[in-house]
Amino acid sequence: MDKLIIKGGLPLQGSIRISGAKNSALPILAATLLSQDDCLISNVPDLADVAVISEILRHLGVEVQMVGPGLLKANASGLCDFAAPYDLVTKMRAAFFAIGPILARMGHARIPLPGGCTIGSRPVDLHLKGLRSLGAKVTIEHGYVEAQADQLVGGNIYLDFPSVGATETIMMAATLAEGTTVIENCAQEPEIVDLADFLNGMGAKVSGAGSQTITIEGVRRLGGCTHRIIPDRIEAGTFMVAAAITKGDLTLEGVRLDHMQAIVSKLSEAGVVITPVGDEAVRVTVEGPLNPIDVRTMPYPGFPTDMQAQIMTLLATIEGTSVVTEMVFENRFLHIDELVRMGANIKAEGNVAVIQGVAQLTGAPVKSTDLRAGAAMILAGMAARGETVVTGLHHIDRGYEAIGDRLSAAGADIHRVEQRTEQVVV
Ligand code: EPZ
Repeated sequence: MDKLIIKGGLPLQGSIRISGAKNSALPILAATLLSQDDCLISNVPDLADVAVISEILRHLGVEVQMVGPGLLKANASGLCDFAAPYDLVTKMRAAFFAIGPILARMGHARIPLPGGCTIGSRPVDLHLKGLRSLGAKVTIEHGYVEAQADQLVGGNIYLDFPSVGATETIMMAATLAEGTTVIENCAQEPEIVDLADFLNGMGAKVSGAGSQTITIEGVRRLGGCTHRIIPDRIEAGTFMVAAAITKGDLTLEGVRLDHMQAIVSKLSEAGVVITPVGDEAVRVTVEGPLNPIDVRTMPYPGFPTDMQAQIMTLLATIEGTSVVTEMVFENRFLHIDELVRMGANIKAEGNVAVIQGVAQLTGAPVKSTDLRAGAAMILAGMAARGETVVTGLHHIDRGYEAIGDRLSAAGADIHRVEQRTEQVVV
């Protein structure tokens, strides 16, 4: 099992280019199942999760290949199976996004029920409610979700919670349904808008993405398209915190600040100086002591839950009392125990964490309990006095492209050690 060895205390300098958004690439790759022509997708991040969903598509008969750096070509004209492989889907929950497109194309879909993960039980009831509203017969048998419908028909769906995944599943299935579908109380994330843009590029008729109500006019067939994935706002937010926690001076290139209003607002409230540079870059600096703040995670446009562990890590180093409330997932505080191991003073009661900032974290062996908690361990290690060893890198590799190398190039002292050889990989 690989590990990262971090020696803290070095301010980040220079610039880092932001990758394409993981949470946009995954549903968009699933959406290629809807088309029977070539889809050319650029700015695809090089991540473990992208490799897994590509493998699932190939298993289903889709031609998927990288035809250049970050440039993926997919063609689903050869789609020949409606059952996704158990071992691959249970490896990555986001593979469940394939259920809508497979059902719409094949009239039948068999997808393993995705398990929960460390941050929560992760139910899919809203996905299934949506498919039933489109006329599908949906059952759960032997650990699989079976969905069948000779022809999906448009319907009206109200989502009890603005679920990102459920919104995406319904959007994709509805593009080939007969008639009009209206999704109310839907997710409004930028990744929803990116998926809608991709679907419309294929000839779908999706409107309202980014608002609380999305309308989809079904069409008979979808063609191919060319699309560029939006920048990853969570990766960008993570690197903003990296600049702040190391008291560095870091420029992030290829960001969409309009996707990051809540993140920028809360970091600015803490005293982080975030200065736009041209159209697609931003400079992050700290000019003096930072202030404690309160943060409450909410569905977009609220503060993203995927930034909660990262901002908590920053707050752990800011003198004073901060409060973080996690409103989206029921168990997303597992990083607290690891931060306490590094000297943080954080107490959690239910979904509320009270943080008393400390003057200095100290390096320690810590583990990544989920993707974003793993990123938080790296942030803490860069700020801590001494050496931090981060394990559980498979979580981090799912969502951050070569994060150790990119932070090292910006001045951090981070080395990845491949466990099997114990060699230091620079
Ligand atoms: C997406 O997960 C993201 N993943 C998550 O990012 C992100 O944290 C989450 O949205 C919220 O923004 C991808 O896009 C691949 P949800 P998703 O459905 O779609 C409940 C990361 O770190 N819910 O919006 O699974 C659920 O239990 C990952 O990049 C139901 O009750 O999230 C949760 O409490 C982690 N029934 C809340 O909604 C359902 O059918 C939000 O879940 C579906 C969800």
